[in-house]
Amino acid sequence: MRDHWFSTDTQLTLLYPKPIQSLARLHWTPLHIAKLASGFLASHYGARVLDIGSGVGKFCVAGAHFQRGVQFFGIEQRKHLVRHAETASSLLALPNVHFIHGNLTELDFAQFDNFYFFNSFYENINDTVKIDDDIPCTPQLYKFYNRTLYRKFDGMPAGTRVATYHVLERMPPGYCVVEDYIDIFLKFWVKIK
Ligand SMILES: C[S@@+](CC[C@H](N)C(=O)[O-])C[C@H]1O[C@@H](n2cnc3c(N)ncnc32)[C@H](O)[C@@H]1O
Repeated sequence: MRDHWFSTDTQLTLLYPKPIQSLARLHWTPLHIAKLASGFLASHYGARVLDIGSGVGKFCVAGAHFQRGVQFFGIEQRKHLVRHAETASSLLALPNVHFIHGNLTELDFAQFDNFYFFNSFYENINDTVKIDDDIPCTPQLYKFYNRTLYRKFDGMPAGTRVATYHVLERMPPGYCVVEDYIDIFLKFWVKIK
């Protein structure tokens, strides 16, 4: 019943209103990336995966669909996007997905095992990809968010998995690339010490 929503990106995007659909190509993770990344982040039954900057929840709902034994969480600073994410997850009746409205800087990463990160801060340094004008976007915030994320990743224990998509910033020492899909800008990392 639910499967047909996940048959193509176009189909899944139909769950959202038109203005959200038009942002999909640039801002929401394609299904084939979500499938690969969620498979990697499903390190064990019951794993808790955080999408850092979850937008309208596309990565989280796809992950929750493909990995039923894993709990997916998304943190998103724009309230209206969180509402779209919650609507999509309830239409899909997915029990293993949860959304938090807030800024990632205030979230305790110790509650999670593994992380997904799709270059969420880029609109701070490139005006042409801004989602809207609801929140401040500045180069200073770009630096601040990246520094904060670096410190949070650094504080995670060995065994933590991170999937990055379109990310060029460096990871803290101890994180090793275990798979690099160069052609699709997707990297899988594991903290080894
Ligand atoms: C490129 S979109 C990715 C959406 C989602 N991860 C996906 O793949 O479908 C990045 C999202 O991160 C959010 N974001 C950026 N900085 C944030 C922050 N400091 N705290 C919470 N959300 C943030 C933006 O509002 C935007 O919706």
